[in-house]
Amino acid sequence: MTFLHVVGARPNFMKAAPVYRALAKRGHKQTLVHTGQHYDALMSDVFFKALDIPNPDESLNVGSGSHAQQTAAIMSRFEPVVLAHKPDFVLVYGDVNSTVAAALVCSKLRIRIGHVESGLRSFDRSMPEEINRLVTDQLADLLFTPSIDGDENLAREGIAKEKVFLVGNVMIDTLIRFLPKAEELFPVLKAELSLDSFGLVTLHRPSNVDNETTFLPMLKVLDRLSQELPLIFPVHPRTREKWSVQLEQCSPNLRAITPLGYLEFLALQKNARVVITDSGGIQEETTYLGTPCLTLRENTERPITVTLGTNVLIGRDWELLRRQFHKALDGGCKQVAPLPMWDGNASERIADILSRQGLSPASTLHG
Ligand code: UD1
Repeated sequence: MTFLHVVGARPNFMKAAPVYRALAKRGHKQTLVHTGQHYDALMSDVFFKALDIPNPDESLNVGSGSHAQQTAAIMSRFEPVVLAHKPDFVLVYGDVNSTVAAALVCSKLRIRIGHVESGLRSFDRSMPEEINRLVTDQLADLLFTPSIDGDENLAREGIAKEKVFLVGNVMIDTLIRFLPKAEELFPVLKAELSLDSFGLVTLHRPSNVDNETTFLPMLKVLDRLSQELPLIFPVHPRTREKWSVQLEQCSPNLRAITPLGYLEFLALQKNARVVITDSGGIQEETTYLGTPCLTLRENTERPITVTLGTNVLIGRDWELLRRQFHKALDGGCKQVAPLPMWDGNASERIADILSRQGLSPASTLHG
């Protein structure tokens, strides 16, 4: 069978890598298309190297733009590429603009779509990602969910259960594979940073970083917390572009650095005393690692990280942030229950299911 993977933004790369590898093991022919949604070397190239993903076969070089511009550019550049390759399946990942753009193109061309990391819902339609998730899941032919809440959400939206497969979390497959390497490089990283004990911060959501009324108070609180525990803050280009002056004015304990590679960031997540973030994937990774995670959002599309993991939703309640920060420093992290099927084998399960699609029509879906 032939598969075409579409990736475009940083969080796609660690999800596609293990699925690509699992399909390669089964001898399937594969094509990798990079839309170019993320294009800076630190947001893209370094991940291909660290994760051992082959170079893209096709690069669409769309770059940045408004949501409409970016989505439209991906669609118009992707259509001739997918027509030229005629894959049996197109695989899309997560919830970024590249995901929904490729799904829209394939659904009109009647090319089958597999959505990896399907079914997650924040129930907040002000998030662009929520729109991308809703639309992609309506269009996909096979929906691979990381946790049972995904199956429940899809059932509520009327998606036929025969199309839905609870497989576990592919991002955790990558984490498990690369954690030993990340741990190996930690001593060097620690020496470079000359820090024994630290917290880690990431912020890039438009709802947090686009307006001064939200971002500047947040930065002030973080600056203050960094007096108690130095905070390493690898800054997303979106955040840097808007707030470079204000970031420079922060105390040296709030270390605003360039985005990190996969292994370096994983090493810091594992060894941080606390992580403060608005990322989706980091909520999952910290849960797996057992690191306390304080999420600066009102909601999460990954509720399992709150119910079973180390995640606490803070919203913009700075008093709660301070309390939870101190609790983490005192070692009062929530206990992690094992998460079903976050076991390093999610991509193997996906590859098995996809391989079956090439057999007789009756065997293509559940039952
Ligand atoms: C995108 C995803 C988001 C994901 C995030 C991970 C969507 C709607 N959003 O958000 O779900 O969590 O990636 O990082 O798809 N920029 C650069 N260099 C780059 C890429 C972006 O400088 O390589 C800057 C540009 O100013 C750009 C801005 O970042 O306009 C935003 O980039 P974009 O891809 O639109 O969204 P992200 O915020 O990265």
